[in-house]
Amino acid sequence: MSSSNLRVALVGSTGYTALEVARLLLTHPSAELVVATSRQDEGKPLSEIHPMLAGRCDVALQPLDADVIAKSADVAMCCLPHGASAESVKQLADAGMRVIDFSADFRLSSLETYEHWYGVKHPWPERIGNVVYGMPEFFADEIRTADIVANPGCYPTSAIMPLAPLVKAGLIETDDIIVDSKSGVSGAGRSPKLATLYCETNESISAYAVGTHRHAPEIADLVERIAGAPIEVMFTPHLTPMDRGILSTIYVKPAGKAGSVEEAVRSMMSLLRDTYSDQPCVHVVDHLPATKYVAGTNHVQISVRPSGKRAVIVCAIDNLTKGASGAAVQNMNVMFGLPETAGLLM
Ligand SMILES: NC(=O)c1ccc[n+]([C@@H]2O[C@H](COP(=O)([O-])OP(=O)(O)OC[C@H]3O[C@@H](n4cnc5c(N)ncnc54)[C@H](OP(=O)(O)O)[C@@H]3O)[C@@H](O)[C@H]2O)c1
Repeated sequence: MSSSNLRVALVGSTGYTALEVARLLLTHPSAELVVATSRQDEGKPLSEIHPMLAGRCDVALQPLDADVIAKSADVAMCCLPHGASAESVKQLADAGMRVIDFSADFRLSSLETYEHWYGVKHPWPERIGNVVYGMPEFFADEIRTADIVANPGCYPTSAIMPLAPLVKAGLIETDDIIVDSKSGVSGAGRSPKLATLYCETNESISAYAVGTHRHAPEIADLVERIAGAPIEVMFTPHLTPMDRGILSTIYVKPAGKAGSVEEAVRSMMSLLRDTYSDQPCVHVVDHLPATKYVAGTNHVQISVRPSGKRAVIVCAIDNLTKGASGAAVQNMNVMFGLPETAGLLM
């Protein structure tokens, strides 16, 4: 690694998204991991916590001291749970660091919506609605100069990417959108929980948080921010027996009365193709997307098919890559003027 490399600090480095950042940085041409923090494993090499990194990344874990980290790194990737994250992001930003926050703490535009859905008082309310959403496909100019980037949620990425352009172009009804999503178990993080034990998830698919999942307001908020029109969205997530991956099947009604659903779907595919023609990570495809086709990559696959009176959108991403750590590396690249797909070319 060269001494001119961008120096990355990983905060909350014992979890799954942190491992994915470390994995991606191994092949990044101009960024390297120099700091990794943990509350409980101080002093251990990161590779002892994540054996996949053995012989390739032996940074020793240290406690989170923002002033110390700011002296040795240029950017912090904050991979902490919501609630805990906002405090740390504030400390790191106050210490002069540019921060990419993986949690939901700065994603929403409204403090009231955040406190209602997350059930906690926000420790830095002045910044709510004042942090760029880390989706370079829509907000690259703001990301370039941002001090803090709110990295998108995994399910929201799979819904916002197809929905926002279609709503903006007026091609779909905005009051009747159903997002039916399936996720691999890594989406729930590495901390042990009853619902994610092997015997609870293996050979089984289950819906959860029906009508109450916190990603529903994030999808609605961001589609409105990008498209300029409010939407009503019904969102149901499912846990599936996969390690990683998200497949969202989205049921929409074509707007207006003229023409067939087939024609409307052709317009949708054409609009999506135009929207993403210059975007290296988003692919509008003729086949039906599947999680396998994007596993371990920062790519998004989207397709639309007619079905009865509706159009059915299918979108696949990897929750740990485009749904979290790959998007964070993409954001970091944009923030520091590096090629947008550096370290993400798989
Ligand atoms: N998993 C996904 O697919 C995904 C996708 C998009 C966004 N996200 C978001 O990314 C963040 C990290 O997710 P993850 O899946 O990597 O979680 P994880 O595997 O559970 O890891 C979270 C890490 O945060 C640290 N931590 C836990 N509780 C903490 C607290 N109260 N205060 C300070 N540190 C704490 C832990 O490290 P120590 O105990 O060693 O300190 C742990 O390693 C979350 O906000 C999550 O919502 C995750």
